[in-house]
Amino acid sequence: MERIQAAIQKAKEHRSSVGTAGAPQVRQAKPLARDRSSAPRVPGPIWPELKPFDPDPAVMRANRIVSYDRSDPAHATFDMMRTKALRMMRENGWTSLGVTSPTAACGKTTVSLNLAFSLAHQPDTRTVLMDIDLRRPAVAHHIGLTEPQSMASVLQGTRELTENFVRYGETLAIGTSTRGVRSASEILQHSSTGRMLTAVKAQFRPDVIIYDLPPMLVNDDVMAFLPHVDCVLLVAAAERSRLDEIDKCEQDLAEQTNVLGVILNKCRYPGEEYGYY
Ligand SMILES: Nc1ncnc2c1ncn2[C@@H]1O[C@H](COP(=O)(O)OP(=O)(O)OP(=O)(O)O)[C@@H](O)[C@H]1O
Ligand SMILES: [Mg+2]
Repeated sequence: MERIQAAIQKAKEHRSSVGTAGAPQVRQAKPLARDRSSAPRVPGPIWPELKPFDPDPAVMRANRIVSYDRSDPAHATFDMMRTKALRMMRENGWTSLGVTSPTAACGKTTVSLNLAFSLAHQPDTRTVLMDIDLRRPAVAHHIGLTEPQSMASVLQGTRELTENFVRYGETLAIGTSTRGVRSASEILQHSSTGRMLTAVKAQFRPDVIIYDLPPMLVNDDVMAFLPHVDCVLLVAAAERSRLDEIDKCEQDLAEQTNVLGVILNKCRYPGEEYGYY
C-alpha cells in the first residue's frame, strides 16, 4: 500500500509540475505533425470486407472487458481515459497508441481491449486494435476468438489483412494472433513491419490504432516497435510493479516517444477497481 501511495504522490507532484491538474502527462519527445484536420475522414476501403465478430458477453465479463456491455460501473473509468486520450491525441495529431507495462500481467491487454471497446461506442471514431505481443498474444483469448490468426504473418506480409482482422460493429477492427512466435523482435524490426503498418493505415484510415505491446523489461520487443507509435500508455500493477521499474520504463519511453500517462491498475480503493492518473 505504501508503494501505491508513493506512486500516486509522485504522479501528483509531476502533474502539478507540468501545470495540468487532472490530465495525464505528455512529454513531447518527437516533433508534432500529422493530420490536424477536424473534418471527418472517409472510412478506408477494407471495413466492409472484414468478418463481423460479436463477442460472447459472458466471456467479456469473465475477462474484465467492462467497456463491452457496460454493466460494470468500472467502465466509466475507461470512458474517461478514452476521452482524455482521444483529446490529447487529436490535439497533437497522433493516431497510434502503444500500451505497455514494466513486467508481465499488469493488465495491458485488459486495458487495450477496454479502451478499444470504449472507443467503439463513439460512432464517429474508427479504431483498430492490434495484438503486437507476438510472443505471448492474448487479445484473441480475452475476447473468445478461436479461429487461427497470426499478426506475425500479417507483419511479414504473408497473410491478408482481411483474413486476420475481424470487425465489431462499424468502427472497431481487431487483429489478433492465436499462437506466439519466437522471432518477435526480428519481425518487429524488419522493414516489412513498417510497410504493413503503413498498409493498415491506408486500408483502415483509423482515427486511433491501439497496439497491445509486450512488457518492457523482459526483452527488446517494445523498443523495436516504438518507432511506429505516436504515444504510449504505461500500465503498472498496484502491489506488483515497483517504483524503480515504473521510473525506468517511463524514462526509456520518454526518450523515444510521448508518454500519454501511467495507469495504476489492479488498485483496490473502496468502490473502485481501476486507478488512473
Ligand atoms: N484491474 C484489474 N483487477 C483485477 N484483475 C485484473 C485487472 N486488470 C487485469 N486483470 C487480470 O490480470 C490478468 C492479466 O491481465 P492482462 O492479460 O490484461 O495483462 P497483460 O499485462 O496483458 O499480461 P501479459 O504481460 O501476459 O501480456 C488477467 O487475468 C486479467 O483479467
Ligand atoms: Mg497481454
